[in-house]
Amino acid sequence: MLEVPEELGHALSSTGQEHAFAYLERLEGRAHADLVRSLSQVDLAHMVELGKLARTPPASSAGHDLAPPELFPLKRTPQQELAAGEAIACGEELFAAGKVGFVLVAGGQASRLGYDAPKGDFPVGPVTGRTLFEYHAHRLLAARRRYGMTPAWYVMTSPTNDAATREIFQQNRHYGVNPEDVFFFSQEMLPALDAKGRILFATPESLFLAPNGHGGSLLALKRSGALADMRARGIEEISYFQVDNPLVRPADPLFAGLHAQAGCGMSSKVVKKIAAEEKVGVLGRIDGRLGCIEYSDLPEDLKTATDAQGLLSFRAGNIAVHMLRVDFVAELTDEGLELPWHVARKRMSSAAPDGAITECDGFKFETFVFDALGRSPQSVTLEVDRTLEFSSVKNAEGTDSPKSCRADLGNMFARWVAAAGDEIPPVNEAGYPPIEIDPFFAETQAEFVARTDRKPLRRKGGLVYESSE
Ligand code: UD1
Repeated sequence: MLEVPEELGHALSSTGQEHAFAYLERLEGRAHADLVRSLSQVDLAHMVELGKLARTPPASSAGHDLAPPELFPLKRTPQQELAAGEAIACGEELFAAGKVGFVLVAGGQASRLGYDAPKGDFPVGPVTGRTLFEYHAHRLLAARRRYGMTPAWYVMTSPTNDAATREIFQQNRHYGVNPEDVFFFSQEMLPALDAKGRILFATPESLFLAPNGHGGSLLALKRSGALADMRARGIEEISYFQVDNPLVRPADPLFAGLHAQAGCGMSSKVVKKIAAEEKVGVLGRIDGRLGCIEYSDLPEDLKTATDAQGLLSFRAGNIAVHMLRVDFVAELTDEGLELPWHVARKRMSSAAPDGAITECDGFKFETFVFDALGRSPQSVTLEVDRTLEFSSVKNAEGTDSPKSCRADLGNMFARWVAAAGDEIPPVNEAGYPPIEIDPFFAETQAEFVARTDRKPLRRKGGLVYESSE
C-alpha cells in the first residue's frame, strides 16, 4: 500500500475527509500519484466552509430593503433619446479604436440541455442549423467590417470542455476570426460535496469536480493572462456575454457608450419581465447595492408593484450581458476576488472506492458574475427589446429550448423580411417562417432593409440571407 504524504494525510483528517483514505489505499503507481495531486490542489479548509454553507438554509432577501434599479429605458424621453445618440457615437469610437475586447463564457456543462459536447456547437439556425459559436463569431466579423477593427475574442471554457472547444474552433477555422485573436482560458473547478460535507468521487480514481460558476470568469481572466493580453492590445472595456443566446449583440455601441460615458466599472442589459410571475432574477438594489434579486426572494407586493407608466417596477430581467472596465476587473482580482458562494442542491452519482455508483443528495458551488455589480461605483442598466436581443437555449424542451429559440429567430427574421417587402415563406411544421439571416449579412432590421443585395438562397427547408462580404 502506498503512503499518503503526511501533509495531505493531516489535511484530510483535520477537515472531515477521512473517507478519501479508502480511495487512496486501493490505488497504485500513477493513479495514486494523480489522486494525491488532485486532493492536494483542493483548498480543504475552504471546502469545510462551503460544507457549512450548504447545510445552512439559503439566505433570503426578506427583511432587506429592495428597490428597482434606475433604468435607461426602452421607452425614452426626448432627452434620453438625445443622450442615446451621443452614447452611440462614443461607443462607435470605442469599437473603431479597438478598445473593446469580447469575452464569451462557455464553461457551463449544458446538463439541462442534455448535450454532451460544448454548448456552443449546438445548432440553432432556424434553416441552416448554424451553431451558437458561429452566430457569435459572425457578429464579431460584422463588427470588424463595420468599425474596421480587429476583434479580440476571449473564450472561457472549463477544464472539462476546453480541449473539445478548441478542437471545434480548429475544425471550423475559427469561424473566420483570426486564430491569433482568439484567446481560450479556463475557469477553475471545485469538488462537489455530499450532505455530510464529504468530497464526492466521480470514479475511484478521480474527484467529482464542477466548474466554479461564471463568477469564476473574473479571476480566470486575470490568472490566464487574458487581462494582460487586453492591456497589451490597448483594450479598455470588456463586452461580456453567454454562449446560450444567439441574439446577443456583443458590439452594441449604445451599451458600450452609455457604460463608458458614465465611467462605470460594470453595467448590464436587461429585458422586461413578461409578467409579474415570470421566474427570472431581476436586477435591483439590495440595501442600496446593485445586484440580482432571485424570483423567490421578491415579496409578492413588490413583484406586482408598478411605476408611473404602469410598468412593473421590478421588471429588469437579467440576461447576463455586461460591459466591464478592464481596470475594474483588475482591481477586483488584484488581491484575490471574494464573490459570495451560491449552493446548487442536486441528486448526484458518485463512486465508492470499489467503483460502485450510488445516487446521493449533493452540493455544487458557484459564484455569479452579477455579484460584482455591487462593487461598481457607477453602473448603467440598459433595457433592451427581448424579441431582438434575448432567446436562450437552456432546456431540452419547452421554454428556452432549441425549438423555442429557432422559432424566436425565424419570427424575428420574418419581421425584418416583411419590413423590406420581401417574400416570406409559409410557416413550417415547427410553427415558424423558415427564414434565416446571417448576422454577418445584417444584425438589425435597419441594416437588413438597407442592403441592396437582398437575394435569399433557397435551401432545403427555407430561405437564407448570407454573404461573404
Ligand atoms: C443565467 C442567470 C439568470 C439569467 C440567465 C439569462 C445565473 C445564476 N442566472 O441563468 O439570472 O436570467 O442566465 O440567460 O447566472 N457558465 C460558465 N461556467 C459556469 C457556469 C455557467 O461558463 O461555471 C456559463 C454557461 O456556459 C452559460 C452561462 O454561463 O453560457 C449561464 O449559466 P447557467 O448556470 O446555465 O445560468 P442560467 O440558469 O442559464
